Amino acid sequence: MVSRVIPVTSFDLVIFGATGDLAKRKIFPGLFRRFLAGQMPKDSQIVGAARSSLSIKTFNDLVENSIKNFIEINYHQEDLKNFLKCINYVQIDATGTNGWNELKKALRPKKTRAFYFSVSPSLFGSLAERLHNYEITTKNSRIVVEKPFGRDLKTAKELNAILAEHFTEEQIYRIDHYLGKETVQNLMAIRFGNMLFEPLWNAQYVDHIQITVSETVGVGDRGEYYDESGAMRDMVQNHLMQLLCLIAMEPPARFEPDSVRDEKLKVIRALDPVAPHHIVRGQYGPGNEHADYRTGVQNPKSKTESFVALKVNISNYRWAGVPFYLRTGKRLKARTSEIAVVFKEKPHSIFGPEAGNHQNALIIRLQPDEGITMDVTIKEPGPGGMRLIDVPLDMTFSETLGIDENTVPDAYERLIMDVIRGNQTLFMRGDEVEAAWAWTDPIIKGWIERNDVPKPYESGSSGPQDSLTLLEREGRNWRQIL
Ligand code: BG6
Repeated sequence: MVSRVIPVTSFDLVIFGATGDLAKRKIFPGLFRRFLAGQMPKDSQIVGAARSSLSIKTFNDLVENSIKNFIEINYHQEDLKNFLKCINYVQIDATGTNGWNELKKALRPKKTRAFYFSVSPSLFGSLAERLHNYEITTKNSRIVVEKPFGRDLKTAKELNAILAEHFTEEQIYRIDHYLGKETVQNLMAIRFGNMLFEPLWNAQYVDHIQITVSETVGVGDRGEYYDESGAMRDMVQNHLMQLLCLIAMEPPARFEPDSVRDEKLKVIRALDPVAPHHIVRGQYGPGNEHADYRTGVQNPKSKTESFVALKVNISNYRWAGVPFYLRTGKRLKARTSEIAVVFKEKPHSIFGPEAGNHQNALIIRLQPDEGITMDVTIKEPGPGGMRLIDVPLDMTFSETLGIDENTVPDAYERLIMDVIRGNQTLFMRGDEVEAAWAWTDPIIKGWIERNDVPKPYESGSSGPQDSLTLLEREGRNWRQIL
């Protein structure tokens, strides 16, 4: 199946931090893929802006290399040559005066303007101020900001306030790349596009929900950043929170930015504080020929968590009494992200106690191998009475839809196109980010006050034993990380 591509209007996109890792790994390759797909008009302009003094030729080489290194689809050299014609470069001093007039000159009147802040949040204020003072932004300009959006409620508020001095909320696109993932959006399609699930989507029928985002990678070369953040700030406050919101929110009236974001915000505001015994922190030790976390971050005494599991309650009419178990970690057994909605047992079994307990479960696999599985109970084939077994009704999207996974837009390229279109539905609103921090802060504060030390777990395992116990003591089990 070939997906429909609707071209966006031609644009000028300025990328601050254009020589950085995100630009190389995600932004340039993503834009090139949109170019190949015919979505990015050929007369668009991408202006790299960074501190280094680079000739256009050197910058073009950098973009070309990033495409060669990070693109897995086949393309013609001619296409790459044409794409590189859209590239421009301006050396800029983010906190000074150099380069700003040149940047202004490089931009064309009447084009949609977007400015991607792929830089440290400490520079957001300087960039916003200069864009405004040099009259580079127009009413129709947008800015895109990356996570981490603050490290607590206070810093998030400060960032929101700094940006608000020069931009309206409608101009600010806060990226959480999980919202750009195909299957994360599919969560909404599954819930609100089918009659089947929504009537069962509540405390009357759902026993509990599990959200797992497990990674095999370690901290890599981001040790310095990660050791200051940990899994709670790096993953739970944003990505897992977004998944939780989409799975738990009320149906928005329309699939429109504020309708969706209002509903997500209500979920975050309905979250109960998390009791300390409902949280497990872990830190990976050595295993699978990998060094331990502390070696990775070069901090032999680090108490930062690379794993966290927690039980969360949402105090509202729909979810009262239904636990949401969240877990995420690095250096785990497998890379897998999934949401499991586990339904309650039947009120009565006509087959008697010997038929055993059977619970239906809907598993939404986010990555890899995106798809959904519904565990249903059937009769075990053959003679010998009514024995019941659970079997999966399994649908892998790529097989069912005949999609070549390489052609599915990556989260970043989809989100950048949404910025150009001016669609904020898949971006976080300022109040949403603040509410997420307001819930996260006391958890982290509690760890600091209790001088909490994360539990060690072996690299390549499913996390610390305590995380298994978190569910077992309530008569439940995590789904296996496979
Ligand atoms: C990033 C985190 O936001 O998400 C990383 O900073 C993490 O630590 C990454 O590895 C996971 O993203 P994905 O798309 O690979 O699941």
